[in-house]
Amino acid sequence: MTKLREIQHVFNGVAASDGAGVQLTRVIGSPYINMLDPFLLLDAFGSDKPQDYIAGFPPHPHRGFETVTYMLEGKMRHEDSAGNAGVIESGGVQWMTAGKGIIHSEMPEQEEGLLSGFQLWVNLPAAHKMTEPKYQERNSAEIPVEVYNDSVSVKVIAGETSNKTKGVIENDFIAPVYWDISQQAGSNFKERITLGHNAFVYLYQGEIKLGDRIVSQGQLAILSDGDSISIDSVKDSKYILVAGKPLNEPVARGGPFVMNTREEINQAFHDYQTGHFA
Ligand code: FE2
Repeated sequence: MTKLREIQHVFNGVAASDGAGVQLTRVIGSPYINMLDPFLLLDAFGSDKPQDYIAGFPPHPHRGFETVTYMLEGKMRHEDSAGNAGVIESGGVQWMTAGKGIIHSEMPEQEEGLLSGFQLWVNLPAAHKMTEPKYQERNSAEIPVEVYNDSVSVKVIAGETSNKTKGVIENDFIAPVYWDISQQAGSNFKERITLGHNAFVYLYQGEIKLGDRIVSQGQLAILSDGDSISIDSVKDSKYILVAGKPLNEPVARGGPFVMNTREEINQAFHDYQTGHFA
């Protein structure tokens, strides 16, 4: 039996400023939607005005979760306190497991032109919050793309499609789906999504329809539970479809730290301030 997922809620993003003054749109982690377990935050950034992004995100810590940076356009340089460094380029992804803690910077590797993409925060289960930090980095050419009827293309960053195209990111904690989908106007996209996993769509271009509900550019659609999706594009459209297993654990947030209890947050601040951080 197929149970189609429907639109449960549609939310608009909220203009925000983070890092040293980067202008972005906060999509999850906003006053409208605090989180969608296990997704703690989604920021969309996109500007061709250097003053909106040039200041970047100077060194800051993370503990207890994963940050996923997916670049649509432009380049972002990443460096951390353990000596890891690299540049995420257009179409590339970095899935960083902060685990027990890293201090890193994320700075634009360009002084002009378009910079756009997403940062998603994915929670870690309590048993793995203090795991060793780890990076999974893949450039655009390494990420498989499935094309249906010349009208729908799916870039498979994480998760597996019905046609057995496997994403490039490994994650056993939440078995995520992260697909970047392009649909021509008038096309339909059907896929299976694991029952019981939370799922959302963020439309960054065009207009789509699930059932009789419209999602417009810049909107987040939270999907109801089900085992499949059917998405119609009203206009030429681009969106990310993200899904994952909810952790169903208490969440304590303190700035760049996400733990299970307030004590653990206090400990994280203490460890950071006393230099006991990677
Ligand atoms: Fe960060």
